[in-house]
Amino acid sequence: MTVNVLRIDIDRLLRRLLELGEVGAIEGTTGCARLALTDEDKAGRDLVRSWMEELGLDITTDGLGNVVATMPGFDPALAPVMTGSHIDTVGTGGRYDGNLGVLAGLEVIETILTSGRALQRPLAVGWFTDEEGARFPPDMLGSLVYVGGMPLEEALEITDRDGFSVGDELDRIGYRGTAPIPGRIPHAFVELHIEQGPVLEDEDITIGVVEGVQGISWTELTLIGQSCHAGTTPMRLRHDPGYVAADITTFVRRLTCELGGTQVATVGSVTLTPNLVNVVPSRAVMIVDLRNTDDEILQQAETRFRGHVAQVADVEGVGVETRTLARFEPVAFDSRVIDIVEQCARGRGLSSKRMPSGAGHDAQMFARICPTAMIFTKSVNGISHNVTEFTEPDDLEAGANVLLDVMLELVTREF
Ligand code: GLV
Ligand code: MN
Ligand code: MN
Repeated sequence: MTVNVLRIDIDRLLRRLLELGEVGAIEGTTGCARLALTDEDKAGRDLVRSWMEELGLDITTDGLGNVVATMPGFDPALAPVMTGSHIDTVGTGGRYDGNLGVLAGLEVIETILTSGRALQRPLAVGWFTDEEGARFPPDMLGSLVYVGGMPLEEALEITDRDGFSVGDELDRIGYRGTAPIPGRIPHAFVELHIEQGPVLEDEDITIGVVEGVQGISWTELTLIGQSCHAGTTPMRLRHDPGYVAADITTFVRRLTCELGGTQVATVGSVTLTPNLVNVVPSRAVMIVDLRNTDDEILQQAETRFRGHVAQVADVEGVGVETRTLARFEPVAFDSRVIDIVEQCARGRGLSSKRMPSGAGHDAQMFARICPTAMIFTKSVNGISHNVTEFTEPDDLEAGANVLLDVMLELVTREF
């Protein structure tokens, strides 16, 4: 393997992370809120695009607002080695989730351009619309459409809770572009991301060599009951969707204990209507997030969850409408790219560990169309999707240098 003496400029990377983190900053915290296709997302996009322009990169925007910047001056027949991630955040996001992957990609490209090193094929960095799926489910929407996993027309019609559609919001912020969908197939794809969990920190390991991503299942339940007086209605005569939602929440938690292994379950969103102290609710809308690295066990979890919903709703006399918001099978990354990540970590003298990803990532979509893997860096206290999300500068630097080495290595490989 080629020995690289190049290093990314950590101060420049930190400055950009900070500047982007100030867009949509949540007052009194170091977090930010840039939900997909909001004004804040537009401002973040404009900022990152201005950095891409300063570097003289060829920039394309496709019909879903995915933006890819490629090193100029190469034979157009040469597919780029691509990196990237997302710059949208959850409503209570940090500065690193997604942003690191995009800005470290930009940093790698700037480092190589500045060094004058000649490459056999170009590097590219992209950001993909609505990775979080927090506004427009499913998650990884932009990369899913980029790789041809969902027709563009279908994605454009997805609406948020207030009825705004992806298509209208893209037009509003000026990010509905013309680059073709599905997008260009990269030579290979690698994404740097914070771990967002506690494993690397717990084991004092610098680099996570990501072997794959666990399966994800999001189900929205609308539970419809009878609103009535909290004081006058005897318990036996109630049809209370709030009670059913609570029962389902505790059921899925118990289910994770029974199934064990890597099964996780979360109810992070429950909305009661009318949500008043002395009114039995008429409606509860909840979203259940189930994940597992093993798709068979995930399917078992889904079957048992659905069975329980039907049973508890029936006993309470509550109606149920079900909508699948996301369903992605577990993804195994390419063993050749995984090996390269591991070798590059070792080449920098960094400790590393092979591990699965608990979170969803754009790389899992790219794995459908080209050799792909990921690099993780530590998350302090394992905290993410939280304004206190933090990664030490040394770890950011280590991760970005491994990204640099992996991209340079991928340029030389034929797959
Ligand atoms: C995306 O960040 C997810 O894993 O929910
Ligand atoms: Mn992310
Ligand atoms: Mn996230």
